[in-house]
Amino acid sequence: MTEIGGDNAGFVECWNEILTPKWLRFRHLLSGNGMIHSDIAYTDFDIREGDKVLDIGCGFGETALEIAEMVGPSGEVVGIDCTDAFVEVANQERNEAGVRNVRYEVGDAQVCDLPEAYFDVAYSRFGVMFFQSAVRALRNAHHALKPGGKVCLIVWRSLADNPCWGAAKEVVLRHLPPPGDQGSTCGPGPFSMAGEETDRAMLEAAGFSEVEVFKRIDADVCVGDDLEQAIDYQILVGPSGEIVREAGEEGQRKLPGIRRDLRELMGSYLRTDGVFMPSSTWAIVARKG
Ligand SMILES: C[S@@+](CC[C@H](N)C(=O)[O-])C[C@H]1O[C@@H](n2cnc3c(N)ncnc32)[C@H](O)[C@@H]1O
Repeated sequence: MTEIGGDNAGFVECWNEILTPKWLRFRHLLSGNGMIHSDIAYTDFDIREGDKVLDIGCGFGETALEIAEMVGPSGEVVGIDCTDAFVEVANQERNEAGVRNVRYEVGDAQVCDLPEAYFDVAYSRFGVMFFQSAVRALRNAHHALKPGGKVCLIVWRSLADNPCWGAAKEVVLRHLPPPGDQGSTCGPGPFSMAGEETDRAMLEAAGFSEVEVFKRIDADVCVGDDLEQAIDYQILVGPSGEIVREAGEEGQRKLPGIRRDLRELMGSYLRTDGVFMPSSTWAIVARKG
């Protein structure tokens, strides 16, 4: 299950080379905020004892470990991710926790070999939107699901519905141009599955006959434990971070003005426990007929 390459190769390189150190630094925010949404979505996903679950784009494996508890010793979780450093952390933490029903594979979820009709559930929190072709990845998952199995997805809604990402992007765009077409990116991007109609069409194209759940989840998420961390976060990750990175030296030159404007923006979201901004996702369940 280790094939990496093809049309995802550039994005996989971006995850491994550029994004890994940033994700490690801000893991508590990125994974913590993901958990706010997945904790709500789990109710609709109804993952059961004994289920075999595929976790697509599993990152550090937090969700794989949570799901392992839901499925119990008679169930099984297989996490796939293209980023070596994430899978290394995931393996280490699984071993430390003594969890026996989870294993991880480094691979490109779009093209990796998966056993046919093996899984009850294909799950992905914030994974599929980053693949060059989400439809191919979903089709690969469809092939790996038993008849009657289901895909359970959590994807970001639009940038406009996610001030936690969009507001900082607007600020940075006042100082810098958007990244060019040749920029190094992590794939189609977090908002590529924001549209309900598109998602339904993608699922259908991948073979999922029945969409059972399409639910909006709104929640305030933490973008920094304090104001300075919130500014660093927006400068280094997400759509605003991508603009700064791709602007190269000009991005670095403009940082003082960007930091000043971000401080003003983030200041209005500061609470005693950190900087919290609105976010919005879709929780989706679709069935293999
Ligand atoms: C936004 S992160 C989400 C991680 C995790 N699911 C979570 O919610 O914390 C997206 C993940 O997808 C992985 N990824 C991106 N492209 C991939 C691909 N083609 N195949 C497998 N994993 C991929 C990245 O390495 C990253 O861990």
